[in-house]
Amino acid sequence: MTIEFLLNGETTTVKGVPATQTLLDYLRENRGLTGTKEGCNEGDCGACTVMVGDRDGLRAMNACILFLPQLHGKSIRTVEAVSTAGAPHPVQQAMVDHHASQCGFCTPGFVMSMITSHATNDTDHDTALAGNLCRCTGYAPIIRAAQSAQDTDKPAWLEGDAKARDALCAKPSHPTTIDALADWCIAHPTGTIVAGATDIGLWVTKQLRDLNDLCFIAHIDALKTIARDASGITIGAGVTIETLRTELASDFHDLPQFLARFASKQIRNVATLGGNIANGSPIGDAPPALIALGAKLRLRKGSALREILLQDFFIQYGVQDLQPSEFVESIFIPTQADRLKCYKVSKRFDQDISALCGCFNIQIQDGKISHCAIAFGGMAGTPKRASAVEAALIGQSWNRETITRAMTAFADDYAPLSDMRASSTYRLKTAQNMLMRYYLEDTEQTPRILEVAP
Ligand SMILES: Cc1cc2nc3c(=O)[nH]c(=O)nc-3n(C[C@H](O)[C@H](O)[C@H](O)COP(=O)(O)OP(=O)(O)OC[C@H]3O[C@@H](n4cnc5c(N)ncnc54)[C@H](O)[C@@H]3O)c2cc1C
Ligand code: FES
Ligand code: FES
Repeated sequence: MTIEFLLNGETTTVKGVPATQTLLDYLRENRGLTGTKEGCNEGDCGACTVMVGDRDGLRAMNACILFLPQLHGKSIRTVEAVSTAGAPHPVQQAMVDHHASQCGFCTPGFVMSMITSHATNDTDHDTALAGNLCRCTGYAPIIRAAQSAQDTDKPAWLEGDAKARDALCAKPSHPTTIDALADWCIAHPTGTIVAGATDIGLWVTKQLRDLNDLCFIAHIDALKTIARDASGITIGAGVTIETLRTELASDFHDLPQFLARFASKQIRNVATLGGNIANGSPIGDAPPALIALGAKLRLRKGSALREILLQDFFIQYGVQDLQPSEFVESIFIPTQADRLKCYKVSKRFDQDISALCGCFNIQIQDGKISHCAIAFGGMAGTPKRASAVEAALIGQSWNRETITRAMTAFADDYAPLSDMRASSTYRLKTAQNMLMRYYLEDTEQTPRILEVAP
């Protein structure tokens, strides 16, 4: 496999490396670019952040779980190459001026996240830096540095990268159409599709698994579209979580805030919706929200297409309704009034996996509950609907008595596990309280919830 990308302004060709060679290892071991640090090696700490550019723009990503083939046709900037004629980048200077570094291990990663925000005029620094951990300086001086640099001039190398990258993009060598992906899947029934690799990356860096027959799908533009018509919204399986967060903000007002709790910006910039569904995780955040919205999956095998309700895709823990050679092509959300609210509970506010996640979509007509779909992650071996709770609500008056009665039905729907994230009792109690919270928020009585808000 030949991979070509732009590294710090230079066209770079890599041949004969394993398809699972990570960018971080390549930078540090093959290129001596050791400014990019290895902390956790699993996407959690941001020490390895680099700036990646393609036709969709510039994004901060974690080099430790990016495989080299994912970089084909893209540009990469590392911390070694952000100064101009020996003068530090304005962000670097601001870090010095604001005393924003102590031991300095985290600093290159912070600088690369901040340089990406600087280049893209993103001033939401709390969100952009939620995936960068600093253990000694504290965040206040770092945020002050980001703010003070945000309006300074952009370096000239940004334009140079964009021009050289466009020339590279014209020569893709990975599947670029859904038909080509379908053919590959038929030819490789036991092969593995790699979308963002934010799950698969850890199979390699943490589980040390050898992977054969990989198909990298990031160059298939048709998988990255969001299309709307009167019946609903069709989202390609390759749409990233960050794109989903911004693009669906006007359809479902609660989604942006909820999806800001999904991993970190570096992860959301690569993680796809298709990967979040296909991995079958019981604690993935997108499935409960989509199940509550009545979403359908479009699955493809060769030229055959089939549609199923997302809730039916998850059969039991580790088992999904996906045949060999079949893949997720798109996800469809039917048009509906915006009544969705999603509550994620995790030990940390930022960058943490859900202990449980409850998604509620309750429609009211003439004071009565006319439609109700409630789905949870973290309460069973799969993302699962709360059918008994729904049955206790449907047709009833929208009042506190109804809610209090329905809360008891959670015990009929779920027998959650106790694990390191939460006990069974905590999960059940919290799920019940989420229903009450939905009711209180909906009836404009502010619930007294101590929430760590940015
Ligand atoms: C630090 C960190 C934090 C995280 N935090 C969260 C979080 O808060 N919430 C959460 O839900 N998840 C979280 N995750 C998990 C992960 O980011 C998501 O599950 C993500 O959506 C996976 O998408 P991907 O594109 O990276 O999938 P990949 O890793 O590329 O693939 C995952 C699986 O899906 C399969 N696959 C991918 N696309 C398709 C397709 N179109 N058809 C069929 N199969 C396909 C792959 O073969 C593989 O089996 C986190 C991960 C990390 C590393
Ligand atoms: S080394 Fe921690 S995110 Fe990559
Ligand atoms: S300066 Fe030491 S970890 Fe951030």
